Amino acid sequence: MRDGLVEWAILGTGGIVRSGFLPALAQAAGGHVAVIASRDAARAAEMARHYGIARAYGDYRAVLADDRIDAVYIALPNALHLPWVLACVAAGKAVLCEKPLTLQAVETEQIGESSRAQRVPVWTAYAFRFHLQWRRVREAVQGGQIGRVQTIYGTFTTRLQRQDDIRWQGVLGGGALWDLGCYPVHLASGLLAEAPVQAVAQARWRGDVDQATSAILRYPSGAELIMHVAFDRSFDAFTRIVGDAGEIRLQNPYHPRGVDEVQFRTGSGVNRHRWAHDTPSFVEMLTHIHRALHGQDSPRETVSESEVNTARGLDLIRAAMTRGRSSPA
Ligand SMILES: NC(=O)c1ccc[n+]([C@@H]2O[C@H](COP(=O)([O-])OP(=O)(O)OC[C@H]3O[C@@H](n4cnc5c(N)ncnc54)[C@H](OP(=O)(O)O)[C@@H]3O)[C@@H](O)[C@H]2O)c1
Repeated sequence: MRDGLVEWAILGTGGIVRSGFLPALAQAAGGHVAVIASRDAARAAEMARHYGIARAYGDYRAVLADDRIDAVYIALPNALHLPWVLACVAAGKAVLCEKPLTLQAVETEQIGESSRAQRVPVWTAYAFRFHLQWRRVREAVQGGQIGRVQTIYGTFTTRLQRQDDIRWQGVLGGGALWDLGCYPVHLASGLLAEAPVQAVAQARWRGDVDQATSAILRYPSGAELIMHVAFDRSFDAFTRIVGDAGEIRLQNPYHPRGVDEVQFRTGSGVNRHRWAHDTPSFVEMLTHIHRALHGQDSPRETVSESEVNTARGLDLIRAAMTRGRSSPA
């Protein structure tokens, strides 16, 4: 670490690097970007010039050999996450990888094993888990405020604008389930400490990717996640966590801002809440990672059982929707 700052390298030069990571890093104390790596040397150089980044590489592999790099942010298409996470961990570099971490539970387990064996932390960029809203919701659920969780209703829809978006490419791990569905499934994993066991699902396909998927995921306790995700609807992330003694309603569970409301509805009435502070959860996530890498905090929300449970849920839904596709009409 130079000048006490975590030195980051970024793999990829796409949308989330520009709109999420770089602005958040500018706000989060404790780290800075030293390297931007692209498949294309000219694009890396242009990004480096624009954002004042010291080193630009035209090959992701150059990051692995750069001894000055402490942590790597992997912002590549979903299908490329696994090889690059494993390569970075083997090179001893902490990892923040974009969601979903992998496309199969067995791959998530492999990353967990490698991270533990090498003693290198790996985080997935489900930034919402670092926001005060999530901590309050989880405390309320775990503290029994809504009783036993029965059903989580999760919507996550958005309208994809670009026809050449990576999300339309099956070979890159595209599709609404992996891009959006990973959120409600991971939210459920964070609240229900158990692996899902069964799924029913139906998708609307566009070529080899699902443009919309509806699914029910069942858990051994009897709890269920009922979710709908789509690339062809206006933005909506409304979520209800329903227990046998109350419920929590979230307007924006995944990227909460000051205007978003959360309602705690229990026997004692409805408590409506907006978060007074408006720090994006991406900033909170990076601040935590910096503190953890400086040894000031023990690492939280690294790849764990809950992430494996998420990947198992996605496996079950994927299998169910694919079965549904091949069965006769
Ligand atoms: N956490 C969040 O809130 C959030 C939000 C949006 C997206 N994401 C995740 O972030 C990741 C990237 O999404 P994005 O929206 O930033 O995508 P994007 O704009 O398409 O950027 C992807 C980048 O990956 C690199 N790349 C490597 N191989 C590629 C290939 N075969 N085709 C296209 N690009 C390739 C490209 O950089 P170079 O060519 O310059 O190397 C490209 O800029 C995905 O995993 C997505 O799920 C997370």
